[in-house]
Amino acid sequence: MKQSILIVDDDDDILSALSLLLQAEGFTSIKADSPAQAIAAIRQYDVSLILMDLNYSLDTTSGEEGLNLINTIRQHNELVPIVVMTGWGTIEVAVAAIKSGANDFIQKPWENDRLLMTINNQIRLAQAQKQSQKLIRHNELLQAEIRPATDIVAESAAMQRVLETLHQVARSDASILLTGENGTGKSLFARLIHELSTRRHAPHISVNMGAVTESLFESEMFGHTKGAFTDAKSARIGRFELADEGTLFLDEIANTPYSQQGKLLRVLEDRQFEKVGSGITQTVDFRLVTATNAELNLAVNAGSFRKDLLYRINTVEIEIPALRYRPEDILPLASAFLAKAAQKYSQPPLEISSAAKKLLQTYAWPGNVRELNHVMERAHILCKTSAVQPSDLGINSIAPVAENIGLDSEQEYLKSLSEMEQEIINRRLSYFGGDALKAAKSLGLSRSAFYRRLEKHEQTER
Ligand SMILES: Nc1ncnc2c1ncn2[C@@H]1O[C@H](COP(=O)(O)OP(=O)(O)O)[C@@H](O)[C@H]1O
Ligand SMILES: [Mg+2]
Repeated sequence: MKQSILIVDDDDDILSALSLLLQAEGFTSIKADSPAQAIAAIRQYDVSLILMDLNYSLDTTSGEEGLNLINTIRQHNELVPIVVMTGWGTIEVAVAAIKSGANDFIQKPWENDRLLMTINNQIRLAQAQKQSQKLIRHNELLQAEIRPATDIVAESAAMQRVLETLHQVARSDASILLTGENGTGKSLFARLIHELSTRRHAPHISVNMGAVTESLFESEMFGHTKGAFTDAKSARIGRFELADEGTLFLDEIANTPYSQQGKLLRVLEDRQFEKVGSGITQTVDFRLVTATNAELNLAVNAGSFRKDLLYRINTVEIEIPALRYRPEDILPLASAFLAKAAQKYSQPPLEISSAAKKLLQTYAWPGNVRELNHVMERAHILCKTSAVQPSDLGINSIAPVAENIGLDSEQEYLKSLSEMEQEIINRRLSYFGGDALKAAKSLGLSRSAFYRRLEKHEQTER
């Protein structure tokens, strides 16, 4: 990408001469003939360096206008290099400029080679500085993140298909939406997408949208400048900027506060944003991966999720099936988790008794792979023999299928069985995108039995 340099001078001849010189060196040049124009340009473009005169129309020697401009720029942007141009014999003004936050100065009339060397050095320095700030912030985030060191287990045909699709789309830059119940592996597969992509050497930045409070949303996502608000004692780099050149993973996307969805949409559409407290527009380049356990279509209908945001994120949608729909994966996963637990506690790995195997396979796994992981680790701890017994598992096979109908809430107790049945049928239907056969199968019903129930409810509704 071409670096753009903003040239600020009230002398047209100087603007043209510098502009030609910089373009010949491969830079893009933006010209401004007054401080006001310079500020306007900074708001509009993501400039890599500012080359500016100190004296404008007001008076011609004090440099006051130039110093004011430096101060204004620094309020918005601490990093962009500023090189000032001063006349002969005005070394005091040059010193004042550096004190105000300029990075270097050159004297007019300038020597081309020297000017270009100064510019290139300053741009390189600023890049290194930005990179190190990013690294520091990235390390902070890494420390907070628990990284799964898991080998992926995918024996079932359903998961083989999922993996095949993942491999196919990972190399493209398409936005990917991962759907599936809690614990099915969405976060794990988001990371896999990153690792399979051409962006694997750049950061994978993960944000749980449910955990970002509404009041901190902008500062967390866009970053802020020093002093942008009372608590902003130092500048902060936001998640979008950190994800530059890498992958941005927005987890639990359905939980994004409605009031923030418009702001999110803008960055996703234009890949542009401004830090809180800054008018400077920054451009970022990232691959977007999102995940949710919610039915976004329903959320759109209910008015809690923006339709345009949904269309922006679901270029490719990959559904991770619940564990109970791919029972072939249960035992391989169980063995892998048991082996992992043995390693964690530096103990020999355990076998799984056939009775325990049977129980594992008949249980409904409402918490999916995450729950299986916990169950196996606990079994490792509780097991007194060399093979895990059903009693070590702490589950029973008639545990309810997670239907998320909130059986504990008070309102549920006011509902009749028939009302709950209707709710389950509707949810299943929308979960399978209106495919009645799939919905019926998932409930253990024949298609006709499913339709009979559907009709019964439609009649009572009338
Ligand atoms: N296919 C899989 N193979 C191995 N481990 C898995 C698999 N799917 C999920 N896991 C593990 O199960 C746990 C839950 O997965 P996670 O990605 O956090 O689920 P989700 O984001 O869908 O809630 C994690 O520890 C993850 O490493
Ligand atoms: Mg997750």
